[in-house]
Amino acid sequence: MKLITEIAEALARKLSWELADVLINISVPPRPEMGDIAFPCFRLAKTFKKSPGEIAADLKRSLEDEADGGLKGMFQALDRIEAAGGYLNFFIRRDYLARTVLRSSIEAGLKPGSSDEGADKTVIVEYSSPNIAKPFHVGHGFSTFLGEAIANLFEFGGYHVERFNHLGDYGTQFGKLIVAWRLWGDPDALKKAPIGELTRIYVKFHEQADVLPELEDEARAAFSRLEHGDPEEIALWENFRDVSLNEFNKIYDRVGIAFDNTNGERFYSPMIPEVVETLKSKGLLEESEGAQVVNLDSFDLNPCLILKSDGSTIYASRDIASIIYREDVYNFFKNIYVVGIPQKNHFNQVFAVMKRMDFPKADDCIHVAFGTVRFAGGVFASRTGNVVLLEDLLDTSVAKTRALIAANNPDMDDHEVDTIAEQVGVGAVRYAYLRNGRERDIVFSWEEMLDFEGDTAPYLMYTVTRCASLERKAPLRLLERANHVSDEELSLLVSDDEQELIKEIERFPEAVKAAREAYEPSIMIRQVMTLARSFNTFYHNSSILKAENDELIVARLALTQAVGRTLSAGLRLAGIEPVDRM
Ligand code: ARG
Repeated sequence: MKLITEIAEALARKLSWELADVLINISVPPRPEMGDIAFPCFRLAKTFKKSPGEIAADLKRSLEDEADGGLKGMFQALDRIEAAGGYLNFFIRRDYLARTVLRSSIEAGLKPGSSDEGADKTVIVEYSSPNIAKPFHVGHGFSTFLGEAIANLFEFGGYHVERFNHLGDYGTQFGKLIVAWRLWGDPDALKKAPIGELTRIYVKFHEQADVLPELEDEARAAFSRLEHGDPEEIALWENFRDVSLNEFNKIYDRVGIAFDNTNGERFYSPMIPEVVETLKSKGLLEESEGAQVVNLDSFDLNPCLILKSDGSTIYASRDIASIIYREDVYNFFKNIYVVGIPQKNHFNQVFAVMKRMDFPKADDCIHVAFGTVRFAGGVFASRTGNVVLLEDLLDTSVAKTRALIAANNPDMDDHEVDTIAEQVGVGAVRYAYLRNGRERDIVFSWEEMLDFEGDTAPYLMYTVTRCASLERKAPLRLLERANHVSDEELSLLVSDDEQELIKEIERFPEAVKAAREAYEPSIMIRQVMTLARSFNTFYHNSSILKAENDELIVARLALTQAVGRTLSAGLRLAGIEPVDRM
């Protein structure tokens, strides 16, 4: 807010301090009766040889002396200044707050909190990254929804975002799949349910290899042929990759996510000899039990394995190659990995190797970790035994939501019920992934997730429809006026509930920025939830369309619109598309 800067500038001048030092000390008091902006005077006691209380009183007097002079503008925004308990407390005029906050919300339109701080900077966000031929489980769902929200937050800040899906499409398991496919593969089944079929033959391979150990040798040979570019093996591998990706794309389409780059691990494999050369030339490669490693003692980490004793590459070497590739092609500002907590050590090792290589942007590579997913009340019934598929989670959520929507709207036609249930049901799942700090484990429970009054997407989405329905019900002439609301009208929003709501609207842009800086969408989500709760309090305590006069109706409609826009922006950042009614 401009006012804070004005106050800070005035104080800096009075104290002969740097502006930045004043700004650091300024805070928001914990309770409204202590004002809106506070400046503590304790640190000044030594310099001025006075008590903090006396200093606060002096500053107050000295500022007030200029109320009709140089500080006229500042005092027009202030109700009063109080010196209390060693603090200088500034009370903002309620009409001023209403006018300025809502005016800037109106100016921000559908994107409150957006900025261009990231202009000319490219941020790579790598997320989802499932493994070819393996089920897309709820853990990949965590990465997918968290990563998309983080990508959205950066885009909102004006950054150029590259969405990466680092497919797990390489490794010795593909040798096994090739052997298993030749022995037991069923092309029809592969067409119908690719991942189901690939999982079936993979499981069978392991069962058979227990009794026929030579299968393992065949698999190693097949993988080696694949690594050396044998066209037949490559064709099989490509087919496995294509059919798997097809299936993953169905999920991505359903949840509206599109990647800019789906280079899998194999893509980076040919770049590894160069990485090895660089490591060698810098004297960083050491032999350990036949394998090539980089020692990371100085980072308190175990050595990072680069080449196995048979010369084949591993997961970490592909990640190292990919960082160099990403820097060459994208010149990234940040390179973010949205991957579960169990891979913390892996990324620590990879980034430490980059540091030892003197790679200048090692500190701009960031592992954004997240917890595990569990289900309340025992195991979630699933088609594949122990893993829960994201698709099953989404389907169940949508089915349960559908029943609720249909019950609440007996007149709604089936098609509309379906559309809304899909949006709300998928939204509920996404929200459940994002609402808490990302490193916390998630325990899914249907009662909690779909509670229309709870800490849920349905509650937020319902609040948005409430705002929309107020607009629909408003007399057209007043809605028109609200669309061009005047400063005089906005200045009427001075009740406690209105002021509280206005302050929550004002906090949204800060929450967006903080969420981006901490790679933690939950910070933004918490603010959206607090705003929705204050709106519903206001809604229950005050009449909006039946306020005492037209001016107040217009002002409250404009406030309602600002709430609706802010909530919708927050939901969209979380990847949840609001609905008009539900
Ligand atoms: N495919 C891996 C898995 O499913 C995640 C890949 C993480 N990304 C990376 N660059 N290593 O566990």
